[in-house]
Amino acid sequence: MAAGYACAALGDAGDRAFGSRSRRYLAPGGGAARWSRRTDREERSRDHNDGPIDPTVTRVIDMTTKHEHDNPILVTGAAGAVGGIGRSLTEFLLARGRKVRALVRREDARAEALRRLGAEVVKGDLTDLASMHRAIDGCRRIYFGMSVSPAYLEATINTAAVARHHGVDVFVNMSQMTVTQMSISETTDSPQHKLHWLAEQALSWSGLPVVTVRPTVFLEGFFLQLAAPGVRASDELGLPMGGGKTSPISAVDVARAVAAILDDPAPHIGQIYDLTGPESADLDHYARVFSEALGRPIRYRDVPLPAWSEGLRQAGFPAHVVSHLSAMTELNRQGRYDRMTDTVRKLTGEAPTNMRDFVKLHSAEFAPRGSAHS
Ligand SMILES: NC(=O)c1ccc[n+]([C@@H]2O[C@H](COP(=O)([O-])OP(=O)(O)OC[C@H]3O[C@@H](n4cnc5c(N)ncnc54)[C@H](OP(=O)(O)O)[C@@H]3O)[C@@H](O)[C@H]2O)c1
Repeated sequence: MAAGYACAALGDAGDRAFGSRSRRYLAPGGGAARWSRRTDREERSRDHNDGPIDPTVTRVIDMTTKHEHDNPILVTGAAGAVGGIGRSLTEFLLARGRKVRALVRREDARAEALRRLGAEVVKGDLTDLASMHRAIDGCRRIYFGMSVSPAYLEATINTAAVARHHGVDVFVNMSQMTVTQMSISETTDSPQHKLHWLAEQALSWSGLPVVTVRPTVFLEGFFLQLAAPGVRASDELGLPMGGGKTSPISAVDVARAVAAILDDPAPHIGQIYDLTGPESADLDHYARVFSEALGRPIRYRDVPLPAWSEGLRQAGFPAHVVSHLSAMTELNRQGRYDRMTDTVRKLTGEAPTNMRDFVKLHSAEFAPRGSAHS
């Protein structure tokens, strides 16, 4: 019954070059906004010895030149699947008058939609060198993000290596807030958390001008994609999250925060931003918010994790993703997602989306099939 429930509740979730150029790097010990441009001689020297940059050869430059404004900003993972940060980010940057080069993995309707928005669309794979030269050449600012995948670390380092070759002014790296709780001796059961922790380690060694963004769990995952079938079918939030509190954030707010960083990166270089939604509460509380927003009673049911995970597998979720999501629910149960920051408001000037407004925005997806609202 439990496994059957999990499958039914998940429903359709499974459908689903090169030459010499001046390069800029963060000067060691130079603080958040200190930058260096190295001479060709220094470049040649460094190419033969990838040791630390000599701080005596640095000079601070102004990043905000007209030339840099004319360069497109590279947005990876732009087609969007679960949270769709890349797609929303593309929209926000275009709205700010920025040029965007959107990297997609395939030519499809989503790529065409990005073109219609005004983005330059480049097809390529984040783990492929030639793709990433094509994508990065001519860009000074990069957002790196892609879907949860076993190839995450390879894609991060491949992209960072090519970005380092071409020289960029900022590399915004999408990570996860649980990395805040990890260290050389502490990890989690999630393979994705480990890849994000390793990716952050490698980027910190790279000398690239990195900004790290660590959101907590997205509303669009657990509270839409994974919850909607159960809400539609049986007025239940059927999730294995125990009694732990969580402060989910909309991926749209994450994209808004990343757009603010990419629009004016200098003050953010070297920073790590932990992002949460506006409140931390347990699932019984969120069920009451769903009830109020949808105008019908919605209950939270703490479903057994093994059956729920099996439902994900049967719905076609890859093993890596199932393992990650399952570990997240276990951490939630342990209270590890009970965390709050005000960073979205500080970065964007706007409060992050609350659960009530999110549910109302997506009410059609929560309406029982066949109802007037479906
Ligand atoms: N979901 C959460 O709760 C949560 C919470 C905190 C942080 N995050 C982080 O947010 C990021 C995911 O963001 P998102 O939701 O915006 O991602 P997404 O929409 O799931 O995926 C973005 C895109 O990455 C593309 N992609 C995957 N592998 C690729 C490759 N090898 N080369 C080129 N493109 C590739 C996918 O292309 P296709 O669509 O063509 O496959 C997809 O469109 C991850 O870093 C995740 O850890 C997620």
